[in-house]
Amino acid sequence: MRSAQNQGSGAIKKKMNGYVGFSNFPNQEHRRSIKRGFNFTLMVVGESGLGKSTLINTLFESKVYPTKETEVETPARTGVEITSVSADIQENGVRLRLSVVDTPGFGDSINNDEAWRPILENIESRFDAYLAQENRVNRSKIVDNRVNAVLYFIRPSGHGLRAIDIEFMKHLHTRVNLIPVIARADTLAGREVETFKARIMADINFHGIQIFKPVSDQFDDPETVADNKAIASKVPFAVVGSEKLVDREDGTKVRGRRYPWGVIEVENEAHNDFVSLRQMLLRTHMEELRDATDVGLYEAYRTQKLLALGHVQDNGVFREFNPRQQLEEEERLHGAKMGKLEAEMAAVFRQKVQEKEGKLKQSEEELHSRHQQMKSVLEKQRLELEEKRARIGTGMQQQNTSIDVVAAAHPGEPVQRMPS
Ligand code: GTP
Repeated sequence: MRSAQNQGSGAIKKKMNGYVGFSNFPNQEHRRSIKRGFNFTLMVVGESGLGKSTLINTLFESKVYPTKETEVETPARTGVEITSVSADIQENGVRLRLSVVDTPGFGDSINNDEAWRPILENIESRFDAYLAQENRVNRSKIVDNRVNAVLYFIRPSGHGLRAIDIEFMKHLHTRVNLIPVIARADTLAGREVETFKARIMADINFHGIQIFKPVSDQFDDPETVADNKAIASKVPFAVVGSEKLVDREDGTKVRGRRYPWGVIEVENEAHNDFVSLRQMLLRTHMEELRDATDVGLYEAYRTQKLLALGHVQDNGVFREFNPRQQLEEEERLHGAKMGKLEAEMAAVFRQKVQEKEGKLKQSEEELHSRHQQMKSVLEKQRLELEEKRARIGTGMQQQNTSIDVVAAAHPGEPVQRMPS
C-alpha cells in the first residue's frame, strides 16, 4: 500500500498495490442480475386514440398490446379503468418481465376534473402493497409491482398543455417518474413541434412539475454526458409509432407511416424522437428509473405514510414497531374512553332520577291536599245531616206528647199517632 490520506469524513483513501479481487464486484452483480432477470412496470396515460398501444408495441417490437387497425370513434365513458398486461421478453439472454398498465377512459368523459385520481390511487396502492410485504416476517419473495414510469401522452394540438394535463402531472409528479410525450407527432409540421415543445416546457416549469430527465454525474464519461444532454434536450419526446413496415423510395422497408408526400420513419431521428425515447427508457436509463422509484419516490411515500400512522423517526430511522406496546396503548386509550363515557352516563341517569322524584313528590302533595279538601267537605256535609236529623227527632217528640194529652182528655176514642 502506497498512500493513506485522511478525508474530512474520517474515511481513509487507499490505493491497492496488487490485485485483491473486489473490483470484480460489478461482474458478480451482472451475473446475479442476469440470473434473476428484471421487472419493469410502465404505465401509459392519455386519451383514447393517441397511439398508446401502437407506441408500446413499436418500443418492444412485439404485440404486447392489441391495437386497432383503423381509427374508431370512442364513446364517452363514465370513468377511468386500470388494466394491466405482462410479457416476458428476452434479448441476448437477458430476461425482462414487462408489465404495461393502461388507463382506458382517461380524458374520455364529459367531465374530466378528477380523471387523475383513480390513477394516483392505483400507484399508491402499489406502494402500499410493497410496504406491506416489507413489513412481513419473511421478505424473501417480495413482488414488486410499483410503477417505474408513466408515459403521458399529450394531444398534438400545438397550443400547450390543457387543464387535464396540468392537473394530472401536478398530482402525480411526486409519486411517479413522469415522461411526457407528444403523441402522433407526424400530424404536426417540423417547426410547429419545436414551438409546441417550448410551450409545454414553459407550462411544466410554471407549475413546478418535476419530470424525469437523464442527468449525468461524476462517474459518467464525456460521451455518456453528451448522450444524456442530447436526450434531455428532446423532452417532451415528439413520437411517431407504427407497427407496419412501409416501402421507402429506394425500395428498402422501414417501420413508419406512409403519406402521399412520402414516408415518416419511426426510427429516423430527423423525423421524430422515438429513438431518443427508446434509448432512455430501455437502453440507458431503465435501471435509473427503477432506482428513482425505489430510493426517491417510494421512500418519500413510505416516510409520509409511516409518520401519518404515528411512527416516530429518530435520526432518520423509524422507531421499531412494537405490536404489543401498540395494543396496550390502544387498550389504555379505549379504557379511558369507556370510563369517561360511563361517568357521563351515570351523571345523566342521576339527573333523570332526580327530576322524576321531584315530579312524584309534587303529585303526591297535590293528591294529599285534594284528599284533605274532600275530607273537610264530607265532614261538613255529615255535620249538617246530623244537625238535620236531631232537629227532626225533636219535632216528632213534641208532637207525640201533645197526642198523649188529647188521649187522656178523651178516653175510649181512637188516637192517630205519627210513626216513630
Ligand atoms: P385506445 O386503445 O382507445 O386507448 O387508443 P390508443 O391510444 O391505444 O391508440 P392506438 O394505438 O390503438 O391507435 C389508434 C389509431 O391511431 C390507430 O389507427 C393507429 O394506427 C393510429 N396511430 C397510432 N400511432 C400513430 C402515430 O404516431 N401517428 C399517426 N398518424 N397515427 C397513429
